[in-house]
Amino acid sequence: MKITVLNGSPKGMTSISMQYVHYIQKKFPQHEIKIINISQRIKKIELDKSAFQEILDEVEVSDGVLWASPVYYFLVPSNFKRFIELIFERNAEGIFQDKYTAFLSTSIHFFDHTAHNYIHAVCDDLNMRFVGSFSADMSDLRKPKERERLELFAGNYFEVIENRTPTTKKYMPVIRRNFDYIPSKVIESLDAGEKKIVVVTDTLDTQVNLTRMVKRFKTSFTSEIEVINLRMLDIKGSCLGCVQCGYDNQCVYKDKDEYIDFYNTKLKTADILVFAGTVHDRYLSSRWKMFFDRSFFNGHAPSLMGKQMGFIISGPLSQISNLRQILEAFTEIQHANLAGIVTDEYGDSVKIDDLLQDLARNLVQFADSGYVGTPTFLGVGGRKLFRDEIWGRLRFPFRADYLLYKKLGVFDFPQKNYKTRVQNAIMSLLSKSPGFRKEVNKRLKGEMIKPLQKIIES
Ligand SMILES: Cc1cc2nc3c(=O)[nH]c(=O)nc-3n(C[C@H](O)[C@H](O)[C@H](O)COP(=O)(O)O)c2cc1C
Repeated sequence: MKITVLNGSPKGMTSISMQYVHYIQKKFPQHEIKIINISQRIKKIELDKSAFQEILDEVEVSDGVLWASPVYYFLVPSNFKRFIELIFERNAEGIFQDKYTAFLSTSIHFFDHTAHNYIHAVCDDLNMRFVGSFSADMSDLRKPKERERLELFAGNYFEVIENRTPTTKKYMPVIRRNFDYIPSKVIESLDAGEKKIVVVTDTLDTQVNLTRMVKRFKTSFTSEIEVINLRMLDIKGSCLGCVQCGYDNQCVYKDKDEYIDFYNTKLKTADILVFAGTVHDRYLSSRWKMFFDRSFFNGHAPSLMGKQMGFIISGPLSQISNLRQILEAFTEIQHANLAGIVTDEYGDSVKIDDLLQDLARNLVQFADSGYVGTPTFLGVGGRKLFRDEIWGRLRFPFRADYLLYKKLGVFDFPQKNYKTRVQNAIMSLLSKSPGFRKEVNKRLKGEMIKPLQKIIES
């Protein structure tokens, strides 16, 4: 069988993910498994039509397509996403249709599920036959048990192709609404005081609704607020995955383009940040993804901590819960406050005006009070994962993160909580007695709320 591997790593063949593919190649020599570097060559693929066509030709004669990529910021790298956009923009969906497909990723399992949801949804949109997902930790290949798991996964994938086994779709097509948002004049502008408000967008003139929503939002305030268009910003390229920034947050692009300066002087200094974008396939644009990927120079630090954040989205966000989760998780991981998300899905201009006005009000009000909502599992789980990784195997090369986490008291491991440890030891010993357990069962609920009641009383 012939399998085409689409490599999403900007590192090309020096990629961790590709080592997993090489392992599969070695275990299944009977199949021709050909790797095509996508992310590393995206500029050529985009500019040179024949380079894009060559990939399509390979896919066309393949029995299966394996997407293989690192997880970058809840998704795949922006260059890989750009390739996906090109498939749709150049009407090449038919080449992928009915191909048996699977997704293999490597990561540290931080929001790998949203990356997998994304690729699966894209494959469903392409009418491919999605067989399965394999999310490997970046060092799994060192473990015999994990190698065995990978071999089983690949074996099953090939078997499904050989047997032409039926597959099911997980994601139904997104329905887009044709609607022109016509904003009305702002009646009562808001005074944001000294608060610095920055809107970042990637809007194109052709994206009428987003352009108008941003304009309407901008005029909600009495003062002039800054709107920065990512398309106008000089960004030379996406994150290379070189991780040289790990030592002291210095990106290899440094002064080569405007990104770092923009991030440090515009975003980090703002009180209120609003990100505005249009839904492209199952995410925002690859330009937006490039914005997120390049922010990796901050390492795993919450570089936008304490900010008020809002999103203005044009497109069917309510049908793409994965994207909504990504936006929420991003805010939580940043220790920022999500003041609201406004979309144009309602198809009702007056309603959208109200929502934009309400977003503006919330942002200012929360900025005034300093309110940051509690994190959910997305934030709590994500932070714990980072904490463990930066404490452990990622301490090198992410030295800057380690020093910052230490300063912020992120390493809050329970080992030093001697009181709890002593308590646990005594209780575990005592609970061996059935009589004691009976007493505990009787009193447990009451004892659990006792400390909270004390606070309420005081
Ligand atoms: C810009 C950037 C963003 C990343 N984002 C994530 C992430 O969101 N979740 C995760 O688990 N790992 C993340 N990682 C780690 C990579 O997924 C991981 O190191 C992967 O194995 C690299 O694979 P590659 O060598 O094939 O590119 C990120 C790495 C980089 C450089």
